[in-house]
Amino acid sequence: MTNSLGSVKIARLDEVEPGKVKVFNLGQEAIALCNVDGKIYAVKDVCTHDDGPLGEGELNGCQIECPRHGARFDVTTGKAMSLPAVLPVPTYKVDVQGSDIFVSLE
Ligand code: FES
Repeated sequence: MTNSLGSVKIARLDEVEPGKVKVFNLGQEAIALCNVDGKIYAVKDVCTHDDGPLGEGELNGCQIECPRHGARFDVTTGKAMSLPAVLPVPTYKVDVQGSDIFVSLE
């Protein structure tokens, strides 16, 4: 399902609880949806340090910690907040309409 902005429905809002992360696939892309105090952010499910599964990490506030070597990223901006990662993780535009989460890959 695509909305008027060209974003694609990826999940329902109730599938990602506050403070939690869940990974969904959109085409070839694995995307980690992060619920920060009720607001949804989307980041690529690949750590920029060494391709770790970022979506399997813990979310603390707006920061997600990679389960492999502990790098942290701000999911609201993608910025790397701690070593060993230095490059930002790609983020995606999120649009919540009613109970549906839409993500744009562009
Ligand atoms: S792969 Fe994520 S910190 Fe190393």
